[in-house]
Amino acid sequence: MSEIVINGNKKLSGKIVIQGAKNSVLPVLAGTLLCEGESVIHNCPNISDVESSVKILQALGCSCKIEGNSITVNAQGVNNYVIPDNLMREMRSSVMFLGAILGRMGKAVISSPGGCELGPRPIDLHIFALKKLGAKIHEEHGNLYCEAPNGLVGTDIHLSFPSVGATENIILAAVKAKGTTVIHNAAREPEISDLGDFLNSAGARICGCGSDTIYINGVEKIKPTEHTIIPDRIVATTYMSCAAVTGSDIVLENVMPSHMVSILSVFRESGCEINANGKTLYLKSPKKLFRVPTVRSLVYPGFPTDAGPLIISMLSRADGTCVFVENIFENRFRYVDELNRLGSKVKVEGKIAVIEGVSSLSGANCKCTDLRGGAALITAALAAKGETKITEISHILRGYEDIVSNLQSIGADIKMV
Ligand code: UD1
Repeated sequence: MSEIVINGNKKLSGKIVIQGAKNSVLPVLAGTLLCEGESVIHNCPNISDVESSVKILQALGCSCKIEGNSITVNAQGVNNYVIPDNLMREMRSSVMFLGAILGRMGKAVISSPGGCELGPRPIDLHIFALKKLGAKIHEEHGNLYCEAPNGLVGTDIHLSFPSVGATENIILAAVKAKGTTVIHNAAREPEISDLGDFLNSAGARICGCGSDTIYINGVEKIKPTEHTIIPDRIVATTYMSCAAVTGSDIVLENVMPSHMVSILSVFRESGCEINANGKTLYLKSPKKLFRVPTVRSLVYPGFPTDAGPLIISMLSRADGTCVFVENIFENRFRYVDELNRLGSKVKVEGKIAVIEGVSSLSGANCKCTDLRGGAALITAALAAKGETKITEISHILRGYEDIVSNLQSIGADIKMV
């Protein structure tokens, strides 16, 4: 298995073009199942989660062609409604296909997604909502069997928590349901709006995406379309943290600053100067990062949980002590022990991490425990004196396209061996 080797403590400088958003492309690819014909999705990141999604589409009978960052999906021949267990295990977010398969085939079978590296990830809200739309669902032998013998029928759904995945699954299932579905307390993340834009360009009638009430008027046919995935705000945050922790300046292209307001505010509090011009963002780091007031992860437009590890890694070198409160996932701090091997002083108590800023970090051997935790190790290693070896990097490759060559291009001494 490959590992990443970094010789840190070097300034970075240059420009990186930000990839398409992982959390957008996955539900959009699931959505192509609903289009009877050939859809083209542009700006798809070349990451292993996208490869897994393509394998699922193929297993369901789609033909897929990948050309650079564009994926063509022809869903005309969809003939299967079962996601093979090995593909379910490759990617927990494959639960996202449930609503789309049900919407297209009237039946779906997936294995239960179980836990993941962030702790238990229940899908009770997804199941509750699909049942409200008329699906009969039962679990047997570790599989989830879903069927809508009389078709799905639009209804009012009130989510007790604005789950991103559940909101997307409801949208995907409701697009072709009879009548109108209203999602109350829907997730408001930009990736939901991207899914809505994609489906509307294919003939769906969805409005309210980006607000907490989404209306979906069912239509009979979803036609093939072309769509470009929005930029990945967490990947942008990753490169910003890499620049800030090393006291560097960086330019990012293909970003949506309006999707990153809560994130940019924390960077500014830490002393970074940030200027945006359209889809280009300029970050100039201070000599020493300031401590920032308590950061709390919240649903959008609050501070995203996925950016937590990156900010904690960066604040390891702040001029004082900071506090991060994780409110979304139960077990998100597993990477902290690995980060502390590099000399960070982060203490975790339940959902709170206390980050005592240190004046320097030093290279060490460490291993990834999850996708963003892995990226946090890279961030810290770039600032650490000496060599860091990071193992179990498959977690990182799930979400980052060309992270090693991108960082090399701005002067980092990093390689994959
Ligand atoms: C998505 C993102 C993930 C991000 C998360 C929160 C994708 C592929 N992944 O994950 O990167 O960290 O949003 O912004 O888009 N929950 C339940 N029951 C459910 C569903 C969720 O209790 O049926 C809980 C989860 O355990 C978690 C919280 O709700 O504590 C948030 O989960 P959710 O918003 O659903 O996240 P995902 O869609 O899984």
